[in-house]
Amino acid sequence: MIYLDNAATGGEKPACVQSAVLAAMKACANPGRGGHTRALACAERVLACRELLSELFDGCGAERVAFTKNCTEALNVAILGTLRRGDHVVTTCLEHNSVLRPLFALKERGVITFDVAPLSGGKLLPEAVAALIKPETRLCCITSASNVTGQTTDLYALRKLIPARVFLLVDGAQGAGHLPLFLQKTGIDFLALAGHKGLFAIQGAGALLFSERAAPRPVLFGGTGSESHSLAMPAFYPDRLESGTLSYPAVCSLAEGALLVKSRRAEFAQKLLALTAHAVQGIKGMAEYALFSEPNACGIVAFAHRRIPSEEVAQRLSDRFRIAVRGGLHCAPLAHRALGTFPQGLVRASFSPFQTTEDADALLCALRELEKDATSF
Ligand SMILES: Cc1ncc(COP(=O)(O)O)c(C=O)c1O
Repeated sequence: MIYLDNAATGGEKPACVQSAVLAAMKACANPGRGGHTRALACAERVLACRELLSELFDGCGAERVAFTKNCTEALNVAILGTLRRGDHVVTTCLEHNSVLRPLFALKERGVITFDVAPLSGGKLLPEAVAALIKPETRLCCITSASNVTGQTTDLYALRKLIPARVFLLVDGAQGAGHLPLFLQKTGIDFLALAGHKGLFAIQGAGALLFSERAAPRPVLFGGTGSESHSLAMPAFYPDRLESGTLSYPAVCSLAEGALLVKSRRAEFAQKLLALTAHAVQGIKGMAEYALFSEPNACGIVAFAHRRIPSEEVAQRLSDRFRIAVRGGLHCAPLAHRALGTFPQGLVRASFSPFQTTEDADALLCALRELEKDATSF
């Protein structure tokens, strides 16, 4: 199978990541839960991963890196742990449901209100986001890259346009590992990460990095291995946000994946830019398809067949050509409304930097074959 669904989860875990998981399982203990040498060794490894993530994303030190099981949980901690009754939030039509649903749930409970920035000429402009800020706006949530089209917004420009008092939350699910994302330099307050996509980790590895001034409240309560005499959650981070046993193998895999990104991100980004440019060019030449992406470093190419529904195209690519892509709404309903592709959705092919132009060519060949199908649908 040619796996072009890397925006859902990385399909190939590098050998160093696999070895790290195996090593973690061979010498497993509960980090932060005991003073024996094995638990201490595991705790050291976890601390090293926090330090590495903080360095890679220009964070505010290891204590301001909280591990989560995925990006959704990281986003929920930032959103639910920050907002208070009466707050207003600005977000964008390109957001994933992992941002939109927590906001919607808070709105339904009468806790917050929120506004959604639209696209202008197919693009999300920082000015359109900033224009929605009100005096009571506490949080601005924006994705580092659309998981539907791969398009990005200038986060530096956005930070300059919104008042300093507004916390900036960046959903790094699609951007981390591909784009230069810098928390302090950009003035980001929360950066939510999905380890299992562009950071090459296994599933179960996510993280939330946060700024010095951010003070997220816990959304999960329980044992942390620290201050066990108290019924209250510890006041210090990351323990305040990390109840229960961490996925140690997942954290170890994230450390290896992040190391790989640290040394090769620019090269990987170039590769993805070239692969998406190749696919975009090929699809542009096919009359039966409408294209929704430009070449990008996140590896995403979205398109629609003019007559065959997107989920059917994805199914035919899988069944007849053994090519894995994702059809439908990609958990981003407002993005599709903004693009005019709701409810039919789009087909999204998403590359990893380990793939080749032959993989892109296989997709293009299959799409040409499906052009012939159109009349028989
Ligand atoms: C933009 C975006 N945000 C958030 C998520 C949720 O990430 P996770 O699956 O790690 O919870 C995804 C997943 O596809 C995504 O694409």
